[in-house]
Amino acid sequence: MDTFAFIIHPIDPKRDVSRKFPFLGRMLNERQIDFFSTFFPPVYISEIEGITSQATGEEIKGWFLACPYTPRRMMELPERTVYRKIIQTGRLAEKLGAQILGLGAFTSVVGDAGVTIADALDVPVTTGDSYTVTVAVDAIREAASVMDIPLSAATGAVVGATGAIGQVCAELLSEDVERLYLIGRRQEALEELRDRLKVRARAELIVSTSMDVLADAQLILTVTSALNEVIRPEHLQPGSVVCDVARPRDVSAMVAAARDDILVIDGGMVDVPGPVDFHFNFGFPPGKAYACMAETIALALEGRFEDYTLGKHLTRERVEEISAMAKKHGFRLSGFRSFEREVTQQHIETVRRNAKNARKLQMAHT
Ligand SMILES: NC(=O)c1ccc[n+]([C@@H]2O[C@H](COP(=O)([O-])OP(=O)(O)OC[C@H]3O[C@@H](n4cnc5c(N)ncnc54)[C@H](OP(=O)(O)O)[C@@H]3O)[C@@H](O)[C@H]2O)c1
Repeated sequence: MDTFAFIIHPIDPKRDVSRKFPFLGRMLNERQIDFFSTFFPPVYISEIEGITSQATGEEIKGWFLACPYTPRRMMELPERTVYRKIIQTGRLAEKLGAQILGLGAFTSVVGDAGVTIADALDVPVTTGDSYTVTVAVDAIREAASVMDIPLSAATGAVVGATGAIGQVCAELLSEDVERLYLIGRRQEALEELRDRLKVRARAELIVSTSMDVLADAQLILTVTSALNEVIRPEHLQPGSVVCDVARPRDVSAMVAAARDDILVIDGGMVDVPGPVDFHFNFGFPPGKAYACMAETIALALEGRFEDYTLGKHLTRERVEEISAMAKKHGFRLSGFRSFEREVTQQHIETVRRNAKNARKLQMAHT
């Protein structure tokens, strides 16, 4: 049976540590977990079974392994120290017999996005970022449709547009919408991106280092590697859609609480083919996985045991190839979720109604 392994890590330290070690999660506070994570070895989490290709009927087996560092720790510690721990976790995957290894969340963000890690390991490595692009962009297109926002006349925004995932998301969306804001922290990098994209874009491209321009956007795809939320309620216009791909999240939980006229969806969730059991609760309903996990699994189902997505410059070819591969084996975009809850048709209708009322109110005040 072919095999894969996937590295996860705590994102919300208390909640995520409790999922494996309830006692430690209860006893330690966030700062203590952050501190002790430095000395913790890689952790075997679970065996994954039941994944079955819809194309070939082949079943594969996998493992979740955890690198104990939190995102904050990965950003604070010297890169070499972080690489060492991720490579150690990768060695555990090799011992288990994994034929391909996926890097989850910040283990794929740190440093050169998997290149050094793949060089040090025998097992092939992928970050999962190529399929994450497809799933994020498909989710925002679908959300536009349910919210009755015509894509070709829409104003969009990509927050974290200079990042590995953000760049290709921006490229794809620039071919769909009428106007697209490219938002990041580095003006020069944003201008370079704009100049590269404008050759094929149908959208007018506008760069900005300020979140204030979000007030002008109806469709927002956000994918930064910020440690804290970067999008707040006052940034957004009524009726807009925000697809949050980042982990930790870019969108404050306050947005959902304070703005019932906005649709916030989690980006990057897919249905996995076959009666999968992860034997571990990572916060999704049964049968669903992050797109980056799905990329690793799709490669294993395809028998493509080779380094796949590595580094900060993704290619459109890889994005299209993994998308076709995942589709063939039976991965599908999941229904929408928002802050770990299902988005129902009723919720969408409520948001649309509230947005209409909020717009009327705004007009009455102008
Ligand atoms: N949902 C999924 O399945 C999935 C899969 C993979 C990754 N992810 C998540 O996606 C996110 C991005 O990953 P990536 O590999 O594209 O990261 P990346 O290449 O490091 O890019 C991050 C982007 O975020 C921007 N940024 C960083 N800190 C910021 C801040 N404080 N305020 C505003 N912008 C900030 C960066 O701007 P500069 O250019 O100025 O540095 C850059 O544009 C991470 O949260 C990761 O965990 C999710």
